[in-house]
Amino acid sequence: MKPKIILYTLILLAAIVCTAFSVQEVERLSPDSFENPRRPGAVFAHDDHNEAAEIDDCAVCHHLYEDGKLLEDESSEDSPCSECHALSAGPENKISLANAFHKRCRDCHFDAGKGPVLCGQCHKKE
Ligand code: HEC
Ligand code: HEC
Ligand code: HEC
Ligand code: HEC
Repeated sequence: MKPKIILYTLILLAAIVCTAFSVQEVERLSPDSFENPRRPGAVFAHDDHNEAAEIDDCAVCHHLYEDGKLLEDESSEDSPCSECHALSAGPENKISLANAFHKRCRDCHFDAGKGPVLCGQCHKKE
Protein backbone atom coordinates (compact mmCIF):
# COMPACT_ATOMS: atom_id res chain seq x y z
CA MET A 1 0.00 0.00 0.00
CA LYS A 2 1.08 3.57 -0.62
CA PRO A 3 1.96 5.54 2.52
CA LYS A 4 -0.99 7.91 1.93
CA ILE A 5 -3.46 5.06 1.77
CA ILE A 6 -2.01 3.61 4.97
CA LEU A 7 -2.34 7.00 6.64
CA TYR A 8 -5.99 7.42 5.56
CA THR A 9 -6.77 3.87 6.71
CA LEU A 10 -5.26 4.61 10.13
CA ILE A 11 -7.25 7.85 10.47
CA LEU A 12 -10.44 6.04 9.50
CA LEU A 13 -9.76 3.27 12.03
CA ALA A 14 -9.03 5.82 14.74
CA ALA A 15 -12.31 7.60 13.96
CA ILE A 16 -14.27 4.33 14.20
CA VAL A 17 -12.65 3.41 17.51
CA CYS A 18 -13.32 6.90 18.96
CA THR A 19 -16.99 6.83 17.92
CA ALA A 20 -17.46 3.37 19.40
CA PHE A 21 -15.98 4.45 22.74
CA SER A 22 -17.79 7.78 22.98
CA VAL A 23 -21.10 5.95 22.39
CA GLN A 24 -20.29 3.47 25.17
CA GLU A 25 -19.22 6.20 27.57
CA VAL A 26 -22.73 7.64 27.94
CA GLU A 27 -23.99 6.00 31.13
CA ARG A 28 -27.75 6.09 31.57
CA LEU A 29 -30.35 5.06 34.08
CA SER A 30 -32.63 2.32 32.86
CA PRO A 31 -36.25 3.36 32.26
CA ASP A 32 -37.27 -0.31 32.60
CA SER A 33 -39.16 0.21 35.87
CA PHE A 34 -41.72 2.18 33.84
CA GLU A 35 -44.34 0.20 31.92
CA ASN A 36 -43.97 1.86 28.54
CA PRO A 37 -41.05 4.26 28.73
CA ARG A 38 -41.59 7.25 26.46
CA ARG A 39 -38.12 8.75 26.77
CA PRO A 40 -34.58 7.43 26.50
CA GLY A 41 -33.09 6.70 29.96
CA ALA A 42 -31.65 9.77 31.68
CA VAL A 43 -27.92 10.35 31.40
CA PHE A 44 -26.32 9.61 34.78
CA ALA A 45 -22.75 8.46 35.38
CA HIS A 46 -23.29 7.43 39.01
CA ASP A 47 -19.80 7.69 40.57
CA ASP A 48 -18.42 10.45 38.34
CA HIS A 49 -21.58 12.50 38.85
CA ASN A 50 -21.47 12.25 42.62
CA GLU A 51 -17.82 13.15 42.71
CA ALA A 52 -18.28 16.17 40.40
CA ALA A 53 -21.35 17.28 42.38
CA GLU A 54 -19.49 16.70 45.65
CA ILE A 55 -22.21 14.54 47.19
CA ASP A 56 -20.65 12.25 49.78
CA ASP A 57 -23.81 11.13 51.57
CA CYS A 58 -25.44 8.24 49.72
CA ALA A 59 -28.74 8.90 51.50
CA VAL A 60 -29.16 12.20 49.66
CA CYS A 61 -30.64 9.93 46.98
CA HIS A 62 -30.89 6.50 48.64
CA HIS A 63 -32.97 7.53 51.61
CA LEU A 64 -34.61 5.06 53.96
CA TYR A 65 -38.03 5.45 55.58
CA GLU A 66 -39.70 3.36 58.25
CA ASP A 67 -43.37 3.86 59.18
CA GLY A 68 -43.40 7.09 57.19
CA LYS A 69 -40.36 8.50 59.03
CA LEU A 70 -37.06 9.31 57.42
CA LEU A 71 -34.22 7.42 59.10
CA GLU A 72 -31.23 9.73 59.42
CA ASP A 73 -27.78 8.25 58.77
CA GLU A 74 -29.19 5.19 57.01
CA SER A 75 -29.27 4.43 53.34
CA SER A 76 -31.25 2.20 51.00
CA GLU A 77 -28.52 1.89 48.40
CA ASP A 78 -29.35 -1.74 47.68
CA SER A 79 -32.96 -0.99 46.76
CA PRO A 80 -34.09 0.55 43.49
CA CYS A 81 -36.29 3.63 43.88
CA SER A 82 -39.15 1.59 42.41
CA GLU A 83 -39.15 -0.67 45.46
CA CYS A 84 -40.95 2.05 47.42
CA HIS A 85 -42.19 4.48 44.75
CA ALA A 86 -44.96 2.94 42.62
CA LEU A 87 -45.78 4.15 39.12
CA SER A 88 -48.75 6.19 40.31
CA ALA A 89 -49.19 8.03 43.56
CA GLY A 90 -51.66 6.65 46.12
CA PRO A 91 -52.28 6.63 49.87
CA GLU A 92 -49.31 4.31 50.47
CA ASN A 93 -47.14 6.13 48.01
CA LYS A 94 -47.49 9.88 47.87
CA ILE A 95 -44.77 10.42 45.30
CA SER A 96 -44.94 8.55 42.01
CA LEU A 97 -41.76 7.05 40.63
CA ALA A 98 -41.31 9.64 37.86
CA ASN A 99 -41.95 12.49 40.33
CA ALA A 100 -39.48 10.99 42.79
CA PHE A 101 -36.75 11.03 40.15
CA HIS A 102 -37.64 14.49 38.85
CA LYS A 103 -37.94 16.02 42.28
CA ARG A 104 -34.63 14.57 43.41
CA CYS A 105 -32.59 15.19 40.27
CA ARG A 106 -33.99 18.33 38.69
CA ASP A 107 -34.72 20.22 41.92
CA CYS A 108 -31.13 19.93 43.06
CA HIS A 109 -29.87 21.19 39.70
CA PHE A 110 -32.27 24.14 39.94
CA ASP A 111 -31.17 24.95 43.47
CA ALA A 112 -27.47 24.46 42.72
CA GLY A 113 -27.69 26.42 39.47
CA LYS A 114 -25.68 23.55 37.96
CA GLY A 115 -26.58 20.39 36.07
CA PRO A 116 -29.28 19.79 33.45
CA VAL A 117 -32.85 21.02 33.96
CA LEU A 118 -34.38 20.61 30.49
CA CYS A 119 -36.03 17.36 29.33
CA GLY A 120 -33.66 16.78 26.43
CA GLN A 121 -30.56 17.44 28.51
CA CYS A 122 -31.30 14.41 30.72
CA HIS A 123 -33.30 12.26 28.29
CA LYS A 124 -30.70 12.65 25.56
CA LYS A 125 -31.51 11.00 22.26
CA GLU A 126 -29.62 7.73 21.76
C1 HEC B 1 -32.38 16.20 35.78
C2 HEC B 1 -32.69 15.18 34.81
C3 HEC B 1 -34.08 15.10 34.24
C4 HEC B 1 -34.79 16.10 33.62
C5 HEC B 1 -34.38 17.55 33.41
C6 HEC B 1 -36.02 15.49 33.17
N1 HEC B 1 -36.05 14.16 33.52
FE1 HEC B 1 -37.51 12.82 33.10
N2 HEC B 1 -36.58 11.39 34.19
C7 HEC B 1 -35.35 11.56 34.77
C8 HEC B 1 -34.99 10.32 35.45
C9 HEC B 1 -33.72 10.09 36.22
C10 HEC B 1 -36.06 9.42 35.22
C11 HEC B 1 -36.15 7.95 35.71
C12 HEC B 1 -35.16 7.05 34.94
C13 HEC B 1 -35.38 7.12 33.47
O1 HEC B 1 -36.47 6.73 32.99
O2 HEC B 1 -34.50 7.63 32.78
C14 HEC B 1 -37.05 10.12 34.42
C15 HEC B 1 -38.24 9.58 33.97
C16 HEC B 1 -39.11 10.21 33.12
C17 HEC B 1 -40.32 9.61 32.57
C18 HEC B 1 -40.85 8.22 32.89
C19 HEC B 1 -40.15 7.19 32.05
C20 HEC B 1 -40.54 7.24 30.60
O3 HEC B 1 -39.62 7.33 29.76
O4 HEC B 1 -41.74 7.22 30.26
C21 HEC B 1 -40.90 10.54 31.74
C22 HEC B 1 -42.18 10.39 30.93
C23 HEC B 1 -40.07 11.73 31.80
N3 HEC B 1 -39.00 11.49 32.66
C24 HEC B 1 -40.34 12.89 31.13
C25 HEC B 1 -39.62 14.08 31.27
C26 HEC B 1 -40.03 15.37 30.69
C27 HEC B 1 -41.24 15.56 29.78
C28 HEC B 1 -39.11 16.29 31.08
C29 HEC B 1 -39.08 17.80 30.83
C30 HEC B 1 -40.28 18.51 31.25
C31 HEC B 1 -38.12 15.59 31.91
N4 HEC B 1 -38.47 14.26 32.01
C32 HEC B 1 -37.00 16.17 32.49
C33 HEC B 1 -34.55 12.67 34.74
C34 HEC B 1 -34.88 13.90 34.19
C1 HEC C 1 -27.40 11.78 43.09
C2 HEC C 1 -28.13 10.61 43.54
C3 HEC C 1 -27.34 9.43 44.03
C4 HEC C 1 -26.34 9.41 44.98
C5 HEC C 1 -25.77 10.56 45.78
C6 HEC C 1 -25.95 8.02 45.11
N1 HEC C 1 -26.69 7.25 44.26
FE1 HEC C 1 -26.57 5.23 44.05
N2 HEC C 1 -28.00 5.27 42.58
C7 HEC C 1 -28.71 6.40 42.22
C8 HEC C 1 -29.75 6.03 41.29
C9 HEC C 1 -30.77 6.97 40.68
C10 HEC C 1 -29.63 4.64 41.08
C11 HEC C 1 -30.53 3.74 40.24
C12 HEC C 1 -31.73 3.43 41.10
C13 HEC C 1 -32.86 2.72 40.40
O1 HEC C 1 -32.63 2.15 39.34
O2 HEC C 1 -33.98 2.74 40.93
C14 HEC C 1 -28.52 4.19 41.92
C15 HEC C 1 -28.09 2.87 42.05
C16 HEC C 1 -27.19 2.44 43.00
C17 HEC C 1 -26.87 1.04 43.23
C18 HEC C 1 -27.44 -0.13 42.49
C19 HEC C 1 -26.58 -0.31 41.27
C20 HEC C 1 -27.15 -1.25 40.31
O3 HEC C 1 -26.40 -1.61 39.39
O4 HEC C 1 -28.33 -1.59 40.41
C21 HEC C 1 -25.95 1.00 44.25
C22 HEC C 1 -25.30 -0.22 44.86
C23 HEC C 1 -25.71 2.38 44.66
N3 HEC C 1 -26.48 3.22 43.88
C24 HEC C 1 -24.87 2.74 45.68
C25 HEC C 1 -24.62 4.04 46.07
C26 HEC C 1 -23.67 4.41 47.12
C27 HEC C 1 -22.85 3.43 47.96
C28 HEC C 1 -23.69 5.77 47.21
C29 HEC C 1 -22.87 6.67 48.10
C30 HEC C 1 -21.43 6.52 48.03
C31 HEC C 1 -24.65 6.25 46.20
N4 HEC C 1 -25.18 5.18 45.55
C32 HEC C 1 -24.97 7.58 45.99
C33 HEC C 1 -28.50 7.67 42.67
C34 HEC C 1 -27.56 8.07 43.59
C1 HEC D 1 -37.26 2.37 51.49
C2 HEC D 1 -38.27 2.97 50.63
C3 HEC D 1 -37.79 4.08 49.71
C4 HEC D 1 -36.79 4.03 48.77
C5 HEC D 1 -35.91 2.86 48.41
C6 HEC D 1 -36.80 5.32 48.12
N1 HEC D 1 -37.76 6.14 48.67
FE1 HEC D 1 -38.15 8.06 48.19
N2 HEC D 1 -39.55 8.17 49.68
C7 HEC D 1 -39.97 7.11 50.44
C8 HEC D 1 -41.03 7.55 51.35
C9 HEC D 1 -41.77 6.70 52.35
C10 HEC D 1 -41.20 8.93 51.10
C11 HEC D 1 -42.16 9.89 51.80
C12 HEC D 1 -43.37 9.98 50.97
C13 HEC D 1 -44.45 10.71 51.70
O1 HEC D 1 -44.24 11.90 51.99
O2 HEC D 1 -45.44 10.07 51.97
C14 HEC D 1 -40.26 9.28 50.03
C15 HEC D 1 -40.13 10.56 49.52
C16 HEC D 1 -39.35 10.88 48.42
C17 HEC D 1 -39.23 12.20 47.86
C18 HEC D 1 -39.91 13.48 48.37
C19 HEC D 1 -39.29 13.91 49.68
C20 HEC D 1 -37.88 14.34 49.48
O3 HEC D 1 -36.99 13.68 50.06
O4 HEC D 1 -37.63 15.30 48.72
C21 HEC D 1 -38.38 12.10 46.79
C22 HEC D 1 -37.94 13.21 45.88
C23 HEC D 1 -37.95 10.71 46.70
N3 HEC D 1 -38.56 10.00 47.72
C24 HEC D 1 -37.07 10.22 45.76
C25 HEC D 1 -36.51 8.93 45.79
C26 HEC D 1 -35.51 8.43 44.84
C27 HEC D 1 -34.96 9.21 43.65
C28 HEC D 1 -35.18 7.16 45.22
C29 HEC D 1 -34.13 6.24 44.64
C30 HEC D 1 -32.79 6.79 44.49
C31 HEC D 1 -36.00 6.87 46.40
N4 HEC D 1 -36.78 7.95 46.71
C32 HEC D 1 -35.95 5.67 47.10
C33 HEC D 1 -39.47 5.83 50.41
C34 HEC D 1 -38.40 5.40 49.64
C1 HEC E 1 -27.75 17.09 45.62
C2 HEC E 1 -27.65 17.65 44.29
C3 HEC E 1 -27.81 16.79 43.06
C4 HEC E 1 -28.64 15.70 42.86
C5 HEC E 1 -29.58 15.06 43.86
C6 HEC E 1 -28.47 15.30 41.48
N1 HEC E 1 -27.55 16.10 40.86
FE1 HEC E 1 -26.95 15.96 38.89
N2 HEC E 1 -25.63 17.44 39.22
C7 HEC E 1 -25.47 18.16 40.40
C8 HEC E 1 -24.42 19.14 40.23
C9 HEC E 1 -23.93 20.13 41.29
C10 HEC E 1 -23.96 19.00 38.91
C11 HEC E 1 -22.82 19.78 38.24
C12 HEC E 1 -21.54 19.04 38.51
C13 HEC E 1 -20.35 19.72 37.84
O1 HEC E 1 -19.99 20.80 38.30
O2 HEC E 1 -19.86 19.13 36.88
C14 HEC E 1 -24.74 17.93 38.29
C15 HEC E 1 -24.57 17.49 36.99
C16 HEC E 1 -25.36 16.54 36.35
C17 HEC E 1 -25.21 16.14 34.98
C18 HEC E 1 -24.18 16.70 34.01
C19 HEC E 1 -23.05 15.74 33.76
C20 HEC E 1 -22.34 15.25 34.99
O3 HEC E 1 -22.39 14.02 35.26
O4 HEC E 1 -21.70 16.04 35.71
C21 HEC E 1 -26.16 15.18 34.75
C22 HEC E 1 -26.44 14.44 33.44
C23 HEC E 1 -26.89 14.99 35.99
N3 HEC E 1 -26.39 15.84 36.95
C24 HEC E 1 -27.93 14.10 36.16
C25 HEC E 1 -28.55 13.83 37.39
C26 HEC E 1 -29.57 12.81 37.60
C27 HEC E 1 -30.16 11.93 36.52
C28 HEC E 1 -29.89 12.86 38.92
C29 HEC E 1 -30.89 12.03 39.68
C30 HEC E 1 -30.74 10.59 39.63
C31 HEC E 1 -29.08 13.89 39.54
N4 HEC E 1 -28.27 14.46 38.58
C32 HEC E 1 -29.14 14.24 40.89
C33 HEC E 1 -26.18 18.00 41.55
C34 HEC E 1 -27.13 17.02 41.78
